[in-house]
Amino acid sequence: MTSDPEHILADNVKRFDDAAADWEDKPQRVALARRVAEAIQQAIPLAGTMQVLEYGCGTGMVSRALSPHVEKIMAVDTSPQMLEVLRRKAGEEKIGNIETLARDLTRQPLPDKNFDLVMSSMTLHHIPDIEALLHRFFATLKPGGYLAVADLVTEDGSFHEDNSGVAHHGINPETVRTILAKNGGQDIAVQEIHTIEKQQGNGAKRRGYPVFLAWCRKA
Ligand SMILES: C[S@@+](CC[C@H](N)C(=O)[O-])C[C@H]1O[C@@H](n2cnc3c(N)ncnc32)[C@H](O)[C@@H]1O
Repeated sequence: MTSDPEHILADNVKRFDDAAADWEDKPQRVALARRVAEAIQQAIPLAGTMQVLEYGCGTGMVSRALSPHVEKIMAVDTSPQMLEVLRRKAGEEKIGNIETLARDLTRQPLPDKNFDLVMSSMTLHHIPDIEALLHRFFATLKPGGYLAVADLVTEDGSFHEDNSGVAHHGINPETVRTILAKNGGQDIAVQEIHTIEKQQGNGAKRRGYPVFLAWCRKA
């Protein structure tokens, strides 16, 4: 694991471009995305008028699941190949309200647009400066808008077989809670919503990695 942000960004674009075509072949990824979408639906009162940003959307599993419940989703990622798969799958599923954008919000802000919900799943641990990114999420929210981020709880570094592009071995949910509070987040809540089961070593042992969802409302 390198701590150089330039390397992390380049490693992530390559890593996820390479993985895009087969991303949804792993049932545990699909199950996690479904659970995140379900937990967001339970935590946040979605409405057909909502403008949503998903950051680090990958192939858009969470956005595609939530698209019938909101007006429009801007799906942002740094991997052009992930976005290509998203567009293809959204077309096959006749989803017409997801727009894609290849952008790194840690370097370049969004065009002038504000959202009712900003959501992100399993992406924060690939971002060196989480605090700066969450601050940017707040800046792009409308007053009263919602933020929801899901990620791995801090782990020992065994989750990824290849740690290139990994900036953190999971995240302490209490760190996220503190950052949300510092940005003026209201009604902050944190919950473990899922456990990813993985084989260890030669497949003899199974091990669980908890995933949390943190959410709040902008004042
Ligand atoms: C583990 S995948 C999760 C994808 C998707 N959210 C899901 O649950 O299937 C992490 C995603 O974050 C994206 N990513 C990594 N670094 C990023 C950055 N700096 N800005 C935006 N997206 C990034 C990757 O391209 C990848 O699609």
